[in-house]
Amino acid sequence: MAETQELTQATENMSLEQNITPWEVEGAVVDGVQQAIDYDKLVKQFGTRKIDDALLERFETATGQKPHLYLRRGIFFSHRELEKILERYEQGKPFYLYTGRGPSRGHMHIGHMMPFIFCKWLQDVFDCPLVVQLTDDEKFLFKNDLTLEQANEYAFNTVREIAAIGFKPEKTFIFSDIEYMGGAFYRNVLRISRMVTYSTAKASFGFKESDHIGKIHFPSIEAAPAFCSSFPDIFGERKDVPCLIPCGIDQDPYFRLTRDVSQRLKHKKPSLIHARFLPALQGSTSKMSSSNDVSAIFMSDTPAQIKKKINRYAFSGGRTSLDEHRMYGGNPDVDVPFQYLTYFLDDDKEIEDLAEGYRKGEITSGEMKARCIAVIQEFVGKFQEREAAITDADVKNFMDPVYPRPYTALAKK
Ligand code: TRP
Repeated sequence: MAETQELTQATENMSLEQNITPWEVEGAVVDGVQQAIDYDKLVKQFGTRKIDDALLERFETATGQKPHLYLRRGIFFSHRELEKILERYEQGKPFYLYTGRGPSRGHMHIGHMMPFIFCKWLQDVFDCPLVVQLTDDEKFLFKNDLTLEQANEYAFNTVREIAAIGFKPEKTFIFSDIEYMGGAFYRNVLRISRMVTYSTAKASFGFKESDHIGKIHFPSIEAAPAFCSSFPDIFGERKDVPCLIPCGIDQDPYFRLTRDVSQRLKHKKPSLIHARFLPALQGSTSKMSSSNDVSAIFMSDTPAQIKKKINRYAFSGGRTSLDEHRMYGGNPDVDVPFQYLTYFLDDDKEIEDLAEGYRKGEITSGEMKARCIAVIQEFVGKFQEREAAITDADVKNFMDPVYPRPYTALAKK
């Protein structure tokens, strides 16, 4: 008995650091209680920079555009040398965007959409090419129950979804690693892999002796699209066109490594801009995850499913009774419906009013949920309409490395 108590005590007092890798995202555990992810700590630990007001002003001056709501609200909150890309834009020098996605079964969830929505906005603002890597190979290597055929099939379905975000096919190349590997891309993969030792990979990604060698090699494959010479159909012989990589902060280890090898490869270092995770319906201690059906709202969900999930599962920052809520007010900072609204509702004034009204107890948690449901239903509904209009020919064009993409100007110096 005493022994069991001691054991429980030990577990409760145990503090676990937060653990953020490309494959695991967990907040710290303090005294047995799961904590929210500490993003400031990540910035320090990873050695990135926070996006501050000065940089946002710089962005606005360079582009003449009001920063996207993801920037205004600190959803994309951290970066590496974003200013270099702004400088190039001001000088009229080319650059491109690079992002990616590990294709999985079924549809993406609303959290997966963020980097892509942001990329679409950046592509419109900068009028630049975008390359999207679908890491069907990564999924095969990291998920033991997945066959190669399935992973590859998921990639093709993913193209349809990404296309539905509204990218311009003449400026967007989406590739499956399995399909595109070879030629210039594979040459860069090889060059990179020879520059990364096992001990570096182990230190960056936490690989273990028992991991198979496919995992250990994979980072060179995610690094290669950051170098323009992997895409000769877009950039010709050039090696001097850098990219900006919008990604979740968990992907940073790949690109720290990429930046390290850039110089030896005689390419420019990629710049990065990092997003926070969209919280799970259950709250901000974990991110929305496809493997947990009730934590996520999928892009294939019906209006009724969206309503049910938010009403039933979304963590509320409201009080337990309506009387108490009216008296003491709620907490929008932990209220998941309000948090989702900050990701999907562009109107700054309405966001402010919602937060204030909630704090004062004037807005109930039921009302907050109802607003969130309406906004997400509209977002998902519009997406589904666009997705239904994507044809097989569209998919083929996005995946064709030489589909007419008028970048002859880029290929010349
Ligand atoms: N590894 C990422 C995932 O599992 C996919 C990815 C590949 C990616 N290249 C990228 C993400 C570049 C962001 C930026 O989702």
